[in-house]
Amino acid sequence: MKLQDSALKSGARVPRPLFCIKGKNIEALVMERIDGHTLEEILEDDAELPDQFELERALDEISQFLKNLHESRIYHRDLAERNIMIDAEGRPWIIDFGKSARAFSEEEAYDGNVINPISKKRESIHFTDDMTNFSTVRNKLRQYLLKKGKDSLVT
Ligand SMILES: Nc1ncnc2c1ncn2[C@@H]1O[C@H](COP(=O)(O)OP(=O)(O)O)[C@@H](O)[C@H]1O
Ligand SMILES: [Mg+2]
Repeated sequence: MKLQDSALKSGARVPRPLFCIKGKNIEALVMERIDGHTLEEILEDDAELPDQFELERALDEISQFLKNLHESRIYHRDLAERNIMIDAEGRPWIIDFGKSARAFSEEEAYDGNVINPISKKRESIHFTDDMTNFSTVRNKLRQYLLKKGKDSLVT
């Protein structure tokens, strides 16, 4: 909740956290529902890109949202098509802060620990950085638009 709240306060377009549900074996965050689809659904042709979508505007916004997050020392660490939504007005949202972390520097931001589900041992893991992941998403989106004959959107 805190991380999602800080992400929202940073100025990035992320779903507003509403409340937390805490039970014996469950902890869940209920958040604002986005009327839209993930970029993954769109790229896999399970959903349509809204007519109002503008590639350069969307890419500039995502890039700005990442800057906002990083200035607030929040690193997403799982930026991918499945964790970006496009709403009915064609605006991008960053979702899923499940792997995110707060870090004091970029160098330490992407090194973390996970519990291996089989050995149950703690293992160190290196996450791909947000800008590299963003670049991959950008290329996939450009490829998709070219495939769809929407070349005019691609600069
Ligand atoms: N705020 C939201 N509004 C609408 N759909 C959402 C929202 N958050 C997540 N989703 C949908 O639920 C899926 C899973 O959510 P996500 O936060 O990515 O969790 P995880 O990947 O850990 O299962 C997303 O891919 C998206 O389709
Ligand atoms: Mg996800």
